[in-house]
Order: sequence, then C-alpha cells, then structure tokens
Amino acid sequence: MHLVSPHIRNPSLTEDRVSDRTDQRSTRSDTDIHVGLIMDGNGRWAESRGHPRTYGHKRGVTALRRIVEAAPRHGVRVLTLYAFSSDNWKRPAREVKLLMGLMRHYLQNEAEHCRENGVRLNVIGRRDRLPENLLRAVQRAETITGPANDLILRFAVDYSGRYIVEKAAELWAGGRGASDAVPFRRAIEQAMHADPEVPDIDLLIRSGGEQRLSDFMPWESAYAELWFSPVLWPDFSVRDFRAALSAFSHRQRRFGGLNGQKPRTFTPPHFSRKGSIHDREASNILQDGH
Ligand code: FPP
Repeated sequence: MHLVSPHIRNPSLTEDRVSDRTDQRSTRSDTDIHVGLIMDGNGRWAESRGHPRTYGHKRGVTALRRIVEAAPRHGVRVLTLYAFSSDNWKRPAREVKLLMGLMRHYLQNEAEHCRENGVRLNVIGRRDRLPENLLRAVQRAETITGPANDLILRFAVDYSGRYIVEKAAELWAGGRGASDAVPFRRAIEQAMHADPEVPDIDLLIRSGGEQRLSDFMPWESAYAELWFSPVLWPDFSVRDFRAALSAFSHRQRRFGGLNGQKPRTFTPPHFSRKGSIHDREASNILQDGH
C-alpha cells in the first residue's frame, strides 16, 4: 500500500479531485494549506464496541494512515496531528504506554516509506519527558525524512500550546540583547522543536463531537477556520476529510482586513504557496469583518 499517492509529486488540485459523489460542488483550487487535526473519539469508539480504550487508539492509527495518504492529493501541504497532549499524562499508565508505543512503531517502521513518498516528519512538543526509545525514534525519523518536502507531517506529542507560549517567552526574553530582531514566532518554533518552519493553520478539524480546542496550537490557529465532526476518529473517512476541505473552500477568509488587503499571516520565506489561497482571497474580499 502506498502511504501517499503518487499524485503527491504533483499536488495541484483539479476540481474532480476534491469533489465527492455526495458533494459535486467543486472547491476552489486551493493548494498548500496547513490542516490541524484533533483526533478525538478513540476511547468512546472502542468502549461502545466492548473493547478496551487502547483498541480504539490502534484503530485510530489506521484512520490516521488513510488521511495522511489522502492529504497531498487534496492540496494539503502541512498536516499537524494532535497525538498526545501534555494533559494526556493523566491517563492510566497502560493507555499512555500503548500510545507511546504506537508512535514509536509508526516512526520506526514508516520513516523510509515516508521519505520515498515525499513526506517529511516532525514531532512537535516537549521532548524532555518522552521515553528514551521514542526520542531516538523521533530523531531518526526526522533525519531520514529531512530531504522530503511534499507533505510535512507533524505529530504533536507531549504538546501543550500554553506551555509552549510560556517557554517561548522565557527563551525570547533570555535571548534579547543578542537577538532583538528575532521574532517571537521563532521562539515558539524553537520551544516546540518545529522544523521546518510552516505557515499558520488554515483549517482546524476536530473529530469526535466535542467543540473545543484543548490547548492545541493557540498561536498558530489565530485565524484558522474551524470544522467539528461528530464522527469518532477511528471511523473518520476520506469522505469526512473532503467534507471539511470542501466547507473550508467555501469560507470567506478576511483576516480582519478590507477589500484587497493582504492578510497578516506568516509564510516562511522558503515555503511556496503556488497560486496561494491568500493571494486569491485578498483580491476576493467583499466585506469588512473578522
Ligand atoms: C483522543 O481520543 C485521542 C488521543 C488522546 C490519542 C490520539 C492518538 C492516535 C490516534 C494514535 C497516535 C499514533 C500515532 C502513530 C501518532 P480519546 O481517547 O480522548 O477518545 P474519547 O474522547 O472517546 O475518550
């Protein structure tokens, strides 16, 4: 099985590639968007079928694979998945151990395959509390996939948005004087080990029926479009993913600006947005507002 479709090398969108039998309305040809995903509902999915919660997480990895495979074909250039929040340490030791093991296996077993398919891996979050073997797997996977650049696949692990902002403030304040010109954003990236730099989140999807952010990417989601799905994560399909992307493509993003103004969002200099959504949107803005 291909982790990523061969189409990844030519990710420009055509209308039928984003259309669905149930949704023949085409989307705009948006490319290179950053999608954040809160994969919620594994525990409920398993318990409702009489299985332990850990079984839901295992099935959650299957769902994750199909979305990763589909993402580049749908114009997604960066995918950031919330795999383990800093608050998830409160869960039973067995569940925590299972989650750490799933991540380690994924990174160990899929790094080469990712590189071959143009997928660059990056684990963001705290690294000081990760099990040693997971940390090694992270470093190895990031090194192996370093040259890939078609899809940037980020797992947020031991991640807390508020912690990262606090840590960044500490780093930034400490570094001032020598680096007055360094933007605060850099400190955030440093605090969470983000490499490469990526633009802000364009679309934030949460499965599982809850409608909250749970400390996920508060800085980077400042202007994210939000999409909440009732579907529990192990059942989340490519069709559900398309539904979110299709809704996103019909949103009118104004970034607080007026007609014709450029949005105030960050795009790293190396990060090309071919036919960028932002460029097009800036000229399509019709109304004032947020
Ligand atoms: C939330 O569902 C999900 C998690 C805390 C973990 C998500 C992790 C994975 C899908 C697998 C990670 C593996 C890799 C390879 C990155 P929940 O358990 O809170 O569900 P509930 O709300 O139904 O209890």
